[in-house]
Amino acid sequence: MRLVVFLTAASLPIAGAVAAEPILSPGFRFSEQTGEALYSNACQACHMGNGEGATGAGQYPALARNPKLETAAYPTYVVLKGQKAMPAAGRLMTDEQVAAVVNYVRTHFGNDYGPPTTAEQVKQAR
Ligand code: HEC
Repeated sequence: MRLVVFLTAASLPIAGAVAAEPILSPGFRFSEQTGEALYSNACQACHMGNGEGATGAGQYPALARNPKLETAAYPTYVVLKGQKAMPAAGRLMTDEQVAAVVNYVRTHFGNDYGPPTTAEQVKQAR
């Protein structure tokens, strides 16, 4: 059984809000399939709708124009494993969903990186 969920009002990085802490919620899986829908439900609360990130109770790095997204392996790793205050959202997604959201952030917000990653590559990175 996978455990880890984090999206609650308390994780919104609004100035003065409480710091984002992963909230455990057994059994939750993202149902969205497109990169855009996954981004808006799984990432936007912290990284903002325009990918600009936020600074408030915590530091949420910008994904917009972020050269670290050039290689798919890095965002894939962060989404699958989490990193410091970033939850391992990819544990709640299929390989296809992780690939979709990684490819979405690599091709939006001023990023134009290819080639796209695949579900197979995500599977190997898990
Ligand atoms: C609860 C808030 C939160 C959510 C939700 C979240 N992130 Fe993050 N993300 C962070 C934080 C905080 C960091 C910085 C981690 C660190 O300090 O290394 C981060 C870092 C990243 C990085 C690395 C950026 C860099 O410049 O090194 C990527 C890529 C990323 N997130 C993508 C995503 C994607 C894609 C999603 C949705 C699937 C997502 N994040 C959801 C908080 C979040």
